[in-house]
Amino acid sequence: MDSGERVTFPEGFRWGAATASYQIEGAWNEDGKGESIWDRFSHTPGRVKHGDTGDFACDSYHRADEDVAILRELGLGSYRFSIAWPRIQPTGRGRALQKGLDYYRRLVDALLAAGIRPFPTLYHWDLPQSLEDAGGWPNRDTASRFADYAETMVEALGDRVSDWIVFNEPNIFTTLGYLIGIHAPGRRDPAAFLRATHTVSLAQGEAVRAMRAMRPGLRIGSAFNMSPCEPATGSAADRAAAERWHAFLNTWFLEPALRGRYPEAFPQGVPLAQMGVEPRDLERVRAPLDFIGINLYMRTVVRAAPEDVVGLGAAPVGAGGDEGPRTEFGWEVWPDSLYDMVMRVTRDYERPVIEITENGCAYGDAPDEDGLVRDDRRIDYYRGYLRALGRAIRDGADVRGYHAWSLLDNFEWAEGFSQRFGLVWVDFDTGERTIKESARWYARVAAAGAVDAED
Ligand code: GCO
Repeated sequence: MDSGERVTFPEGFRWGAATASYQIEGAWNEDGKGESIWDRFSHTPGRVKHGDTGDFACDSYHRADEDVAILRELGLGSYRFSIAWPRIQPTGRGRALQKGLDYYRRLVDALLAAGIRPFPTLYHWDLPQSLEDAGGWPNRDTASRFADYAETMVEALGDRVSDWIVFNEPNIFTTLGYLIGIHAPGRRDPAAFLRATHTVSLAQGEAVRAMRAMRPGLRIGSAFNMSPCEPATGSAADRAAAERWHAFLNTWFLEPALRGRYPEAFPQGVPLAQMGVEPRDLERVRAPLDFIGINLYMRTVVRAAPEDVVGLGAAPVGAGGDEGPRTEFGWEVWPDSLYDMVMRVTRDYERPVIEITENGCAYGDAPDEDGLVRDDRRIDYYRGYLRALGRAIRDGADVRGYHAWSLLDNFEWAEGFSQRFGLVWVDFDTGERTIKESARWYARVAAAGAVDAED
């Protein structure tokens, strides 16, 4: 519970913001960049709301200096962005494209010059289409392709980038891309989905080993989508389903990395054979992570679901619970979910280093007649979640940083540009940026290292 007193954060806590390549860069086919599965998906009629694509997005490929200037004006100390694999290896293999490396080198150097930590994600969903044509994540060979790419990036930037995020939300991009089909590559194939989850864990292990061999001393983690799971009712079936859903949603990619095993998410046992698990794989998937990245938005209420197609016997009920207010995306605002999740990870993994790699909300407040974006609901959201995070740190969690999702309004996947998460308003026709009032509030919080119950 929130007692109302000021919540303070440790000295050196990193206040940041996050974006992702396909969601902000645009320049989808410039300078030799290869096609990604999200280029293909968004160019396929009916896949993305209003037919929106990331062809132009926020035009950050041409405006990276503007984005860095905004981060600097806000006094933020960390920028989580992602690297578009097809900008480095257009077909997902072979020699790196110099123009692609140059873009990210310029971005990193501009961040360092501004005193901002560059915090790159290697994979935020834009797989080279050529690799999908060869089978995609269900194809075990993709793990080696990814490790080569990771090694290439550390060779290119490891002298100036020390902190790396390997995957963004492996549970989400495998589930939505291969099981439910509402994200790229748009497949609905339970067997392919199960194989994809194992290949991704193999890729995480191979990539971490290759990165550490290329440059010892790096800090490496992944950004896992997480949500504390609560049973829909007090029944034994729902309570068991909530625990299985926690295993599937929150630890399916963490347990292999940290403990060389898959968690008991399936009532009939982990389908190792269907996942394509081979002898010694449970060693190969190990990836000692230096930090656990947590992307969190809400809690998840879970019911027993015998009918689910992949055999988990559990399913979420809606987007969060039904007590809190909702964002325009329909997601419940429930700040205690961040406290609960951070404290469970702290208890279950012997107080690991945690980075909040994403947290934020979608509200469409637009510039008013004075050109101001008075997004008070976003300020309320961030105030609640940050105060909950501060309480978790007070209660023993080792959280080193927080990244608002997102720095910019951007391409929200299948929702296109209909959901605005940014601290900065973006005119999607011109790319013009307008700093919102929530950004100025967040800048004051970062400067003070504290969050008051009201101000
Ligand atoms: C995700 C992705 C982001 C989203 C954000 C809002 O968590 O789905 O990392 O790319 O845009 O979370 O959905």
